[in-house]
Amino acid sequence: MLELEPRTIACVVGARPNFVKIAPIIRAISARKGLVARLIHTGQHYDVAMNAVFFDELGIPLPDVNLEVGSGTGTEQTARIMLGMESELSNKTPDLLLVVGDVNSTVASALVAAKLRIPIAHVEAGLRSKDRSMPEEINRLITDRLSDLLFTTEHSAVDNLIGEGVSPGRIVFVGNVMIDTLHACLHRAAPARETLTEIGVAPAIAEDVASRGFALVTLHRPSNVDDPDKLALLLEALARIAQKIPLVFPLHPRTGSMIESADLGGFLRSSPIIVAPPLSYLRAIGLMREARFVVTDSGGVQEETTALGTPCLTVRNSTERPITIEQGTNLLVATLDELNAAVDDILDNGGKKGRIPPLWDGRAAERIAEEIDAFLAHERLPLPA
Ligand code: UD1
Repeated sequence: MLELEPRTIACVVGARPNFVKIAPIIRAISARKGLVARLIHTGQHYDVAMNAVFFDELGIPLPDVNLEVGSGTGTEQTARIMLGMESELSNKTPDLLLVVGDVNSTVASALVAAKLRIPIAHVEAGLRSKDRSMPEEINRLITDRLSDLLFTTEHSAVDNLIGEGVSPGRIVFVGNVMIDTLHACLHRAAPARETLTEIGVAPAIAEDVASRGFALVTLHRPSNVDDPDKLALLLEALARIAQKIPLVFPLHPRTGSMIESADLGGFLRSSPIIVAPPLSYLRAIGLMREARFVVTDSGGVQEETTALGTPCLTVRNSTERPITIEQGTNLLVATLDELNAAVDDILDNGGKKGRIPPLWDGRAAERIAEEIDAFLAHERLPLPA
């Protein structure tokens, strides 16, 4: 029988949440005889703490190529990724380009592949915050518009895509690859006590904080950190919450630099908040699992807390992941009054209970690889005369 050449799937990563999503996909693609993965890193995130640590912990193979685009405005980043991608995809044309999530690397790569007529698969398609002031929302809309295969994590995403006129035959509800990674790694998650000691908390205090209970804070969205006045009010509110329960606050580099340029570093360091550098994946999920609650504006953390059953307060007006509210442990807090009330409610009553959404079962990446295989096999058939 004729042996067919394996098909190459170019998988793109750029920013921290991409690494968490791509790990199980690379494994599932590599496990299929007819597919090989080629990993392209755009270099959007480059700090060791935002990048290399994740490759190590998640067992992601070293990228086949790194475009090293670095930081800049959204437009600069997108343009640099497009230039790098154009030469990469022209020199080594894959059978399909796979992009994940909603970061600048996602949309820039999809734009180039679409112009080169390379089929595109988008993992985490169809999520919509309906808020175009978020750069991610623009990235989601464009990426989905250009994609041939749209893999979704929740039913709202399917509804959104159908509402936008996407042909239902191109949409596949596969579940959530971020939860695949959580399932695969949870047994290796670092205990909170150990992480607290690692970030410089004295061992006796770390022991006390871990056993009495603490909350985790992650914030980096422009809507929360870019306006100095708003950021000051948010930090003051967090400092007051930290008098009720210890707060652990790992700083995203963007948040760290906004705090310094707004001259709020002194305030934060003199507050009771336990400030930490960006944490590795195993440390972050360990803290999320043990925390009494999490305060966040991240997309992925809303999903991970739902999967872990930890109450989550999302400091935003909207979420593109409504299943975490309908079925999970997530609650939107649009104002500081709402945040304070929600924290008091959790401390008094334990917080929101949830259930695990459909297909968040640790096997989403296998379904994706299977669908890609079938899609490419179909494309291989001779065209009808
Ligand atoms: C990006 C994504 C966001 C995602 C987040 C997770 C977009 C539009 N946004 O936001 O959806 O939730 O990643 O982390 O793609 N920086 C460093 N070192 C790094 C990376 C960034 O110091 O390794 C600093 C730079 O000052 C940079 C700033 O952080 O200007 C912002 O980085 P950028 O990649 O533009 O966006 P994020 O805010 O990280």
